[in-house]
Amino acid sequence: MLDSGISRRAVLMGASATAAWLASPARALVQAAAKLAVPSLVDQLIDRMTLEEKAGQLQLMAAAWGGGAALSLNPPGSGSNFEGQVGEARQGSLTGVFNGNGARMARIMQSAAVKESRMKIPLIFAADIIHGHRTIFPVPLAEVGSFEPDLARRTAEAAAFEASGAGIDWTFSPMVDVARDQRWGRGVEGGGEDPLLGRLFAAARVHGFQGANLKANDHLLACIKHFAAYGAGESGLDYNVVDMSHARLREVYLQPYKAGFDAGAMSAMASFNEINGIPSTANHWLMTELLRGEWGFKGFVVSDYTGDEEMIAAGYAKDGRDATKLAFLAGVDMSMQSGLYRKYLPDLVRSGEVPQATLDESVRRVLALKAMLGLFDDPFRRIDEKREAARSMLPKTRSLAREAGRKSIVLLKNDGDLLPLPRSGKRIALIGPFASGAHDLVGPWVVYGDDKKAVDLASGVRAAVANRASVSVTQGSGINEPLAGGIEQAVAAARAADVVVLAIGESFDMSGEAQSRTEIVVPPAQQQLAEAVAATGKPMVVVLKHGRALALEGAVANAPAILATWFLGTETGNAIADVLFGAYSPSARLVASFPWKSGQEPYYYAHKETGRPNPPGDLQPYKAHFRGISNSARYPFGHGLTYGKIAYSDLALSSPTLPMNGRIQVSARIANRGTRAAEEVVQLYLHDRVASVTRPVRELKAFRKIALAPGASEVVRFTLTPTDLGFYGADARPVVEPGTFDVWIAPSAEAEGVHGSFDLLA
Ligand code: BGC
Repeated sequence: MLDSGISRRAVLMGASATAAWLASPARALVQAAAKLAVPSLVDQLIDRMTLEEKAGQLQLMAAAWGGGAALSLNPPGSGSNFEGQVGEARQGSLTGVFNGNGARMARIMQSAAVKESRMKIPLIFAADIIHGHRTIFPVPLAEVGSFEPDLARRTAEAAAFEASGAGIDWTFSPMVDVARDQRWGRGVEGGGEDPLLGRLFAAARVHGFQGANLKANDHLLACIKHFAAYGAGESGLDYNVVDMSHARLREVYLQPYKAGFDAGAMSAMASFNEINGIPSTANHWLMTELLRGEWGFKGFVVSDYTGDEEMIAAGYAKDGRDATKLAFLAGVDMSMQSGLYRKYLPDLVRSGEVPQATLDESVRRVLALKAMLGLFDDPFRRIDEKREAARSMLPKTRSLAREAGRKSIVLLKNDGDLLPLPRSGKRIALIGPFASGAHDLVGPWVVYGDDKKAVDLASGVRAAVANRASVSVTQGSGINEPLAGGIEQAVAAARAADVVVLAIGESFDMSGEAQSRTEIVVPPAQQQLAEAVAATGKPMVVVLKHGRALALEGAVANAPAILATWFLGTETGNAIADVLFGAYSPSARLVASFPWKSGQEPYYYAHKETGRPNPPGDLQPYKAHFRGISNSARYPFGHGLTYGKIAYSDLALSSPTLPMNGRIQVSARIANRGTRAAEEVVQLYLHDRVASVTRPVRELKAFRKIALAPGASEVVRFTLTPTDLGFYGADARPVVEPGTFDVWIAPSAEAEGVHGSFDLLA
């Protein structure tokens, strides 16, 4: 339909103009949209809409009757401007709202839009469903550690099931920003430091949210965010600038976004940051040439929360009108929260600064998506108060949360096989601010979840042991402040016990948006608690709660057993107890490296080598290391122990050489020499020894998670092709260069595992 419109226009323009049109980004844009199955209804609507109504379809606002905490704080009619917002729906001056208050709110607003507005266009309801709706799953950073993309697909699907029952059509998720600086607070929402995992989990989550049919009333529209490179802000400061080569951008940071779009995500959110001086929100190359032209994206782009307006403070736009023009012409179809688009777009079109056709194109994209979501067929298809209640926190969803929880826990250390603990015969002192209590369980970026409906650690542990009375619970410290008498009580509790489980770490609001930290350590008050408890000499298991990789110190680092448990959500206590008492052998791996010290940030395993690497062993003068510590991680990416004893041997290559059009098989034998069953994440890393652009010391190219019974072994085989050996050259184009490649099959990015090499032939 659109294509024929284009060719008519091209014919009318004459030959040279036609050529210019054919080569123009606008043509690419329209062509991309042409691939959408736009129902004719959409064009008919566009023909009849006023400029104000069109701009209204491109304006998204936060719900005046907000969800979650606002449920009790801001009931309708108690001074909120909900009535005003319903009026806007009636007037056709907004396309939808986000983070609203469930099906009841959606019904009132949708009724106003489809029954009382002139065009009767349905609203779209959005929300930040990041790791669950009512049932909260582990934070994404934790879940990626499962190395099981299908787990993320299943939790996204379960979140979509609950949320779509509550009137939500669109989630602002998955967040797929690669994050390599652990000071940044928002790494918790994403997939960690590695592009391969980032890609696989982005695609899995899109499939889970969207399902096979966007019209289904148990699925949602996904939104890939924050496009692009939001995770690379200088010094880990949230919203900060990004200055980076296009080769690195393409090779690392763009990978997960691309995978999300390839998986069918039909919306994207512009990032707050600038890249090389241009805010993403006004970046025509990013939003139009790359996204729509090169990648063929057919959905729509929304700005982040007031991201358009923020270009004024950033020194890129003169005023709101200018910001609107810059963002819109760059390819950002919809504005979130600033109100700028509905304020300025009509006039910008009237003055000729914004072509009418471009406005129509964005409206067409948005309406086409509303049609794909089934909203024109039945605007109330996801709005059903009974279904909202009936779908909430079902036993099967909670059991998935428990499964995802235990699969997200990383066993960092287990000296002397302190874990698993026996279920009986030991007195356990559960100590620390996270030992008990309905706080900090569901973690950051939860709009509709509730700590009070989640299982705390004490409840999980008590349910797992034979005798509840064998467990004592002592707070010992506040999260940031010491507790009067807390250390004395904790020490007494430790002395009276056989083993201590020390639950310490970060509160939920120490990560998330605008929560960058300068020191990524356990807060000092809790560190003091750890020192005092450790001094009792009782065996101590540290259970960390955290939204980022941490730099562990002193008694925490020296504890014989350490579990990284992140924020696991609704089933926190049960999931941790499953691992503590051996009902589940830990299988997750770190997807964010734990450095030795905060000052090493940004630290990531796939860093490059300097010309003065420190050889293995002691630190040497004038070699690349920090004063007193090496340029490595305490616990690197990929690290995680099991309750088995896993051994790697017998690396075998199918050939010493790989021809340019061939393939090579690399295998190793993985054995469990222990007495307990285990799941091992077998990882394959490559290093290109010499290249036209220096290459990382290692890159993850493949992995497999295998189950090994005690005494069992398995030969794990990987097949590599030259494409796996390629990279982006100095001109940011993909290249594959012959040469020698190191290959490791190993249990982490910095473990030796088994190691060989082969040559890629010219
Ligand atoms: C965040 C987005 C989020 C939006 C709406 C912004 O501050 O950066 O990730 O989707 O708010 O809540």
